[in-house]
Amino acid sequence: MKARKNYYISILSAMLACSILCDNASLSNGEYLIGVGSYDMTGPAADVNMMGYANLDQVTSGIHFRLRARAFIVAESQNGRRLAFVNLDAGMASQLVTIKVLERLRSRYGDLYNEDNIAISGTHTHAGPGGYLQYVLYAAASLGFVKQSFDVIVSAIEQSIVQAHGNLRPGSILINKGDVANAGINRSPSAYLFNPPEERAQYPRDVDPETTLLKFVDGKSQESIGAFNWFATHGTSMSRNNRLVSGDNKGVAARLFEDWFAAENNSTQPGKPKPTFMIRPGSIVRKKAMGIKATGGQSCRKTTSRNFKVRQNRKIKFVGAFCQSNVGDVTPNVLGAVCLDSGLPCDFNHSSCHGNAQLCVGHGPGYPDEIKSTRIIGERQFLKAFDLFNSAHEELSGSVDYRHTYLNFTNLQVELGGGTKAQTCPAAVGPGFAAGTTDGPGLSGFQQGDTEISEKWKRARDSLQVPSQQQVECQKPKAVLLSTGEMFIPYAWAPAILPIQILKIGKLVILSVPGEFTTMAGRRLREAVKSTLISSGSGEFDETTHVVIAGLSNAYSQYVATFEEYQQQRYEAASTLYGPHTLSAYIQEFKKLASLLAKGEQPPKSGHLSPPDLSSKLFSLLGPPTGDDTPGGTTFGDVKQDIVLPPRGSFKKGEKATATFWSANPRNDLLTEGTFAVVEVQRENYWVPAFDDDDLSLFFKWKADNSSSSKSSLATIEWEIPANAAPGVYRMRHFGSWIAKPETPPRYFTGASSSFVVK
Ligand SMILES: *[C@@H]1O[C@H](CO)[C@@H](O)[C@H](O)[C@H]1NC(C)=O
Ligand SMILES: *[C@@H]1O[C@H](CO)[C@@H](O)[C@H](O)[C@H]1NC(C)=O
Ligand SMILES: *[C@@H]1O[C@H](CO)[C@@H](O)[C@H](O)[C@H]1NC(C)=O
Ligand SMILES: *[C@@H]1O[C@H](CO)[C@@H](O)[C@H](O)[C@H]1NC(C)=O
Ligand SMILES: *[C@@H]1O[C@H](CO)[C@@H](O)[C@H](O)[C@H]1NC(C)=O
Repeated sequence: MKARKNYYISILSAMLACSILCDNASLSNGEYLIGVGSYDMTGPAADVNMMGYANLDQVTSGIHFRLRARAFIVAESQNGRRLAFVNLDAGMASQLVTIKVLERLRSRYGDLYNEDNIAISGTHTHAGPGGYLQYVLYAAASLGFVKQSFDVIVSAIEQSIVQAHGNLRPGSILINKGDVANAGINRSPSAYLFNPPEERAQYPRDVDPETTLLKFVDGKSQESIGAFNWFATHGTSMSRNNRLVSGDNKGVAARLFEDWFAAENNSTQPGKPKPTFMIRPGSIVRKKAMGIKATGGQSCRKTTSRNFKVRQNRKIKFVGAFCQSNVGDVTPNVLGAVCLDSGLPCDFNHSSCHGNAQLCVGHGPGYPDEIKSTRIIGERQFLKAFDLFNSAHEELSGSVDYRHTYLNFTNLQVELGGGTKAQTCPAAVGPGFAAGTTDGPGLSGFQQGDTEISEKWKRARDSLQVPSQQQVECQKPKAVLLSTGEMFIPYAWAPAILPIQILKIGKLVILSVPGEFTTMAGRRLREAVKSTLISSGSGEFDETTHVVIAGLSNAYSQYVATFEEYQQQRYEAASTLYGPHTLSAYIQEFKKLASLLAKGEQPPKSGHLSPPDLSSKLFSLLGPPTGDDTPGGTTFGDVKQDIVLPPRGSFKKGEKATATFWSANPRNDLLTEGTFAVVEVQRENYWVPAFDDDDLSLFFKWKADNSSSSKSSLATIEWEIPANAAPGVYRMRHFGSWIAKPETPPRYFTGASSSFVVK
């Protein structure tokens, strides 16, 4: 207690000293300008393939909870150097998204935010709508470009930065580190074993359990305004069969952190239930919330739009973000993979069951309930972050800086030491890529570790593109299943030009990598950068410098395995695009960048290398929504299946209430920063929103229904009544919009279930 008080006093006196001495031009020790922002980026909740598993059947049809872009900005001072970091509840960053975000920021702020000082990173959820990447391989499953997916992400990033920029204020940044228990295991342990024994002996485990947390504290009020942390585990708690938009385990962690803060920002007990009527910033529909039409059950009083504006444009008080790191071989399915048929362990080297990789599937801690697994893995990350948040005391101080460059990975010369040279290759994937992983098996007929391709698949490959002989040699021992770096019809299938970036805030160094480094690949990169910083710098860097990898940042290029792991050609190696020396090339180029940073020098203008903007060429095969209708005698928002009360006539906590409404395609309007579903509670003579489609307890499920009309659809709201729901009278409301014909303006509707009692 006393230490804390002293600590505050020291900060206060530092601030006081600064206000006298620094004249705002350069803030003293540990004082930065800090800002945070957060914006809804939930894409189309119907019809769009989810990004991650490349499972054509996995199209969105509802929302578990919303996706957000969360940002922080740190500046040395008003006119000093600054950087921005944005974490997306998305599968990964996208080159085209980055390009368009930079264009928008340029038109707002000139050169203030640019490709050098902004990092955009994806959490790697596999439960977000796809179609926002430009290279063909990453847009194939989504039937090409999906403008709506893309636009909502670009806008959310922009808005999160606008907010963060708008609330920049003097503050301090604390850093803390610790291990997250049991939120990830290695899904390719046989490949990890290929790494040299003496190297493996330096680490207790075959995954990195460590998380690094930043805590942003307002210098004036001493209130925390945000926390960002980095930890490596896949966003694959939700399976390849899930159809609900979800931030997966990292999204859950963020939701829990922000809910906790909103409810209990002055307590130190995590997991305290949030008050039932807590109004979360930025939630609840703000569009055209009109008087409702109640159907069935008791008559409901009109809800005016005023009730809904309550949540509109709330100032974001606290942003909690869970960012991805060297995630390549780390699965959240911590019970391990077993054969679905026999229940026995899978083949160790191939993750298959008597030759069939489809049967070898990893289990999360809530198995067979993947929602529960997602929640558990999210909670484990949240609880550790919470702990680190409360015990953080190391304050960052020192300059803000950054370096960024583009590289052409097609044929980088790599010095391997001892005079040996090697080079990278054009992008290609091997058969292990097609096999998928224990988080989501791929095509039948493939196994991880395969280095041969059947004649049938060779013919299929050759019909698209025969790999050049040089490519075949260069990629060995990977067999070239798709030579994506040599495929340009209708446009590039894989990136050649990729960004690498280093961000620095005092003793924290963030490495933005455009892919998924495996555990050991990440360690090698971090170590190499750290020793380069120490050896090239003049004392600013030392053993206490924190080096963090921000995975899936700025662009996407699949995996990066070590040279040794590459020899086994499991999924991660088969997806390491630029051949066996991909990692060595990254390390070499990051060392150059680190050296420049340490010496205060700038990279040479690399021949004006820049990634292509393919937006004018993108194909788009997913049609727009075709229009909506309801069966005769009903209208949009009418209840099809009302709440069914339990026999005792009321609900208890832990039970599930469900109602189904005649609805319309959620693609008509994404209701950004709004909601498709609300559970309301009765207060005297009006209704108050209590839970919405961003709450973990509420599920919004949508499906087309052609039983009565070819254009009708149904929305089902399920509410798993949580422990913190106050006893009372509740009802459900559905919001949506419908169109008569394609490309016509949407008209908004709402409807309510009958009321029900929760005891
Ligand atoms: C918690 O939030 C309230 C409302 O914004 C604020 O007045 C209070 O100071 C906060 N407490 C802490 C410890 O941050
Ligand atoms: C939080 O602060 C509010 C108002 O300052 C106070 O009423 C409440 O008891 C505090 N809660 C806890 C858990 O300290
Ligand atoms: C896995 O592969 C390694 C290297 O090829 C081999 O030494 C080992 O025996 C294999 N393990 C099993 C269980 O097949
Ligand atoms: C990247 O390098 C390859 C091989 O040298 C070359 O063919 C290609 O044009 C380069 N791409 C760009 C955009 O410079
Ligand atoms: C309509 O419903 C029938 C019967 O359930 C189904 O076979 C058919 O595929 C559906 N058509 C569309 C367009 O969904």
